[in-house]
Parts: sequence; C-alpha cells; structure tokens
Amino acid sequence: MKTIMVHSIHRGEGKTKVAKELAGYTQLQGNKVLLADLDFITDPHSRALGLPSSPNLEDLLKDIDAEAEKNPYFAINFSEDKLRSYLLTHNTGLKVLSSENAKELAENEEIAHKIRTVVRNLKQLPYDMLVIDTDSSNRDYNQVILEEADHVLIVMDNFRYNVKDLILYLHKLQNMGYSTENFKIVLNKVPDPIQVTIDEIEKDSGLPVIGIVPVLDKTYHPSPETENIYLNVADPKNVDFINAIKQIVAVL
Ligand SMILES: Nc1ncnc2c1ncn2[C@@H]1O[C@H](COP(=O)(O)OP(=O)(O)OP(=O)(O)O)[C@@H](O)[C@H]1O
Ligand SMILES: [Mg+2]
Repeated sequence: MKTIMVHSIHRGEGKTKVAKELAGYTQLQGNKVLLADLDFITDPHSRALGLPSSPNLEDLLKDIDAEAEKNPYFAINFSEDKLRSYLLTHNTGLKVLSSENAKELAENEEIAHKIRTVVRNLKQLPYDMLVIDTDSSNRDYNQVILEEADHVLIVMDNFRYNVKDLILYLHKLQNMGYSTENFKIVLNKVPDPIQVTIDEIEKDSGLPVIGIVPVLDKTYHPSPETENIYLNVADPKNVDFINAIKQIVAVL
C-alpha cells in the first residue's frame, strides 16, 4: 500500500479535487484504492463523491476513544472487517472514509495521536493506494500524516507569494526536524508566465514539480448538484486533464 498525502499551504488550492481524481484514476486503472477524507475543518458541501456521509471518520474516532480506555493508542489495531465497516463504496469500486464537518475535533488535545492511529490502521488494509485529503492547517495532526505518508503532494499555483510561503513552510518543517525529501509539487493550473517558472520553483524549493493539472473547461463542469459524484477522470472528453493525472500517478 502506497500512502499519498494531498496537502497545500493555503486553502482552496485544489487538494480535494486532486485527491479525488488521483484516487479515482488509479481505481479505474484496475487498482484497489482507498480515499480518506481527513479534513474535518472544511465545510462538508463538497465531500466524498456524493456518497452518504455515514459511516464516517467520526465513528471510527469514537471507537478509537473507547479502545483508548483499555490500550495505548499505538496498540489499537482494528480487524480488517471492522475497518471496512467505516468505509463507503463509490460506483467505481473506490473505497472512501468520509468525514463530517467536525471542527471541534481539531481542538481535541489527543487528536494527533488519534489521527496517527487512524492512518496506521488504514495502512494495514490490503489496498494498492491510500490517498489522504487534508486541510491546509499547519497543525500537529497534519504533521502526523506527513510522517506516515510515502509521498506528500503540495498542491499550489506558481504565484510569487505562494512559492515564498512554500519555502517558509518547508524551512519551518525542516527546523522542527521533519524530512521533506518525499514532498512533491503539483501545480493546479497551468503556470502563469509572468509568475515563477517551474525551474525556479524547483531550484528555490528543492522539490520536483511532478505534474501540471489544467483548469477544467467549463463545458465539462458538472452541475453543482452532481459535483460530488462526478469524477472528471471518468469522462474520456477530458483528455488533457486525464493525461495530467496519469503523469502524476506515474511518478508515485
Ligand atoms: N483543475 C481544476 N479545474 C477546475 N476547477 C477546479 C480545479 N481544481 C479545483 N477546482 C475547483 O476549485 C474549488 C476549490 O478546490 P478544492 O475544494 O479541491 O480545494 P481544497 O484545497 O480542497 O480546498 P479546502 O482548503 O477548502 O479544502 C472547487 O470548487 C474545485 O472544484
Ligand atoms: Mg478540500
């Protein structure tokens, strides 16, 4: 199982979009993929592929709480069957751990331990890929996911201030003792020619740019009611978009 964390420095950069499409594409290629929505901060209107929102992450966290009365977090291991009971199934076969809007979880002082337990348990499942969608906060529970992931994808554009913020973020993590060697950049949007070039981004950040996801043509946009059940990679008309996702998957 390969674990991919999809992250960004700022909100609204396209993490959820990239996470969904990456997971969907890999599933459609004949792999077994699990998409985990570990963002409990963002409003839940564009969540888990239009699936019902229950069962979800909060159910799993409640059961982890119950187990934590008897065992330390690192010793909490759910069986495969038990873990499957928290997952939803999309019509592509993609498995989804959904999350409700539960902002108060972020204030729970044990949340980092709990999220580590969630990720470690999910990593035990017999899937080919685990894609984790996150919020863009620089919080301890996100640092736990950084540690557990094989690849960390930073979704961003090439605007000067964003590249600057990325470099500050990387320095901050490095100063805290985190390795950023497995970080990679996904540009969501074709680079703006008057902003930072790809060569400069790579040189200044030390990270490779592994893909450029085009902004989808308006004509292919699903209506707002269907956005969540729609995978752009499932529509063969989206040639450039599919090729961009394919290129990213090839690197992972
Ligand atoms: N390549 C793209 N083409 C067209 N629309 C896009 C693209 N990427 C993102 N969007 C749209 O931009 C909006 C923000 O994207 P998304 O929700 O994926 O960002 P996010 O980083 O997950 O945000 P948040 O930090 O709030 O979780 C959404 O409406 C999404 O559909
Ligand atoms: Mg999101």
